[in-house]
Amino acid sequence: MKNTAETLAKNFDWPGKDGKPIPQPPKLSAEHQALNDLGRKEYQSLCGNCHHPLGYGIAGSGPLLVDSDWLRGSEERLVRMVLQGVRDPIKINNEVYNRDGAQSMPAMAMALDDQKIAGILTYVRREWGEFAKPVEPATVTRIRAATKDRAEPWTESELLKIK
Ligand code: HEC
Repeated sequence: MKNTAETLAKNFDWPGKDGKPIPQPPKLSAEHQALNDLGRKEYQSLCGNCHHPLGYGIAGSGPLLVDSDWLRGSEERLVRMVLQGVRDPIKINNEVYNRDGAQSMPAMAMALDDQKIAGILTYVRREWGEFAKPVEPATVTRIRAATKDRAEPWTESELLKIK
């Protein structure tokens, strides 16, 4: 047992090992902290039902969010995904998810206002180590207006054209 632990310790590095500090996201302004807190609450009551409360994904309901390359990608894409939803197979970290196209993510433009969408995306892009900048409610307002005539969920190839 001790040997295994020593081998592991020699060969791997992880946050907190040897008392190294666990990386913390940069501090937020009071306003952005309130946005993040709203996002946490909304994530738990809505997104977490399909993506798991800790972002691990739930088989048959939704893919993982922790470490997903979509979270590191453009916020322009993420806002659209939440507003109009997503359908068809999608590559996540180079693996095809939803190969048979049976699953989809619902449009949430009606269910969530700009503040809540900005909060949720701010939260998911900080909570699991991405430490991305907050998503501003004004960005969501702009994208909502730009996509107001779109009813269809997005597909991967459409999303990848958006920078
Ligand atoms: C009813 C279930 C459901 C809900 C609720 C839901 N999603 Fe999804 N989500 C999915 C499914 C299914 C996919 C994959 C869609 C596909 O394969 O085309 C997905 C894909 C995604 C992706 C891209 C793939 C990945 O894993 O990174 C992101 C990002 C995402 N969802 C974020 C959210 C956020 C944020 C919310 C809450 C606002 C949310 N989802 C709510 C089911 C859901």
